[in-house]
Amino acid sequence: MLRFAKKMPDKCLGCGACEEIVACPAGKPFSEALCFGCGACQLACPGDAVVMLERTKTRDVEIKVNGEKFWVPERVTVKAALELLGYRFSRFPEKGSIFAPCSVGGCYSCAVLVNGALVPSCVTGVTEGMEISTDLSEDYVPKRIVHGWMGHPVGGVGTPWWLKGHRYIEVACFACGCNLRCPQCQNWTTTYCGKDKPLSPSEAARITTYMRNRYRVDRMAISGGESTLNRRWLLSYIKALKELNQDSDARIHVDTNATILTRDYIDDLVDAGMTDIGPDLKGLKVETFMKITGIKEKELAEKYLRTSWDAFRYLVDNYKERLFIGIGIPYNKMLISMDEIVKIGEEIMKIDDSVQVCVLDYRPEFRNVTIPRPSYAEMLDVWKALKDVGLKTVICQTPRGHIGP
Ligand code: FES
Repeated sequence: MLRFAKKMPDKCLGCGACEEIVACPAGKPFSEALCFGCGACQLACPGDAVVMLERTKTRDVEIKVNGEKFWVPERVTVKAALELLGYRFSRFPEKGSIFAPCSVGGCYSCAVLVNGALVPSCVTGVTEGMEISTDLSEDYVPKRIVHGWMGHPVGGVGTPWWLKGHRYIEVACFACGCNLRCPQCQNWTTTYCGKDKPLSPSEAARITTYMRNRYRVDRMAISGGESTLNRRWLLSYIKALKELNQDSDARIHVDTNATILTRDYIDDLVDAGMTDIGPDLKGLKVETFMKITGIKEKELAEKYLRTSWDAFRYLVDNYKERLFIGIGIPYNKMLISMDEIVKIGEEIMKIDDSVQVCVLDYRPEFRNVTIPRPSYAEMLDVWKALKDVGLKTVICQTPRGHIGP
């Protein structure tokens, strides 16, 4: 807990991510004297060039938590200080603990009030005299960093295949922060971004609505990072979008890794106004899931994987007529075998043989830059294998565009 970040110059790629996207609470990455040890720069570094070292000497500072006075070491984050005082944090939403899934300041799930202002506890450093409140009232306005609004001609996993083409069909925005640590993350500058200004749900919904009108499309998508992390924010955002887009053509689309998408969360999303969803199933075996997602704790990986499959089943069983459901599955021979792809296909068949299955070609990105991008021929083999299993609607991303259905 008492630690500081050190950059290893021989590994540094010089990409600037630690300066540009990381919400360094010290304001200056890699200053041993100032570092709060949050570890965000380590998580975000594509070169794996940051190590966390133990800090031995530190003095104490006085803070107040929920009105009570405590002493905690200086140069730790608010989250670490709260943990030292016995507060529990978790990477899967649990009663009695503060959900802190991204640890880079992107999702604001771990937010607390510090001197009256909402801040992410994972990337905020404690200071002398700080007053922290963990009691957020039911009606507080959640915030989250969301950025990258754009018109999209292809859409995401939960976009119906017949719409994908060469004109704009969707506007999308990207929520920062993710609970997974995929070494080949294709959107890593969003995933690890904690530096932008957080937005309220209504601010984000207004921007999305403006973009919808500007691009003259009906579909409004949110992806990430991981869109579902800050539940209160996402539900309020969807409600605000629905309020601003009351026409029957409006579609609200959520793309998600589905790892925390519990049944009650799905019910709430549908009640809020979600119309389309694209859950990803990142493997069938937990070992594959861990390799693809970079999650090292087996128990947590099992929970995430189980939740994502259960979310798929629950969506089909309860909302097939009401929502458009598209499933995403990964392919790259370095990460998952063809045998497992076939088994995933068989499992999907047992749940719904007509659901749209989109195979994503996992490319060299972020830390996994040495994996080759799957060729067109390889993706065609995947497509054939899933069609042979009996799935009716399979589309595959390839370097030459989509194959299928
Ligand atoms: S866990 Fe702190 S902002 Fe996401």
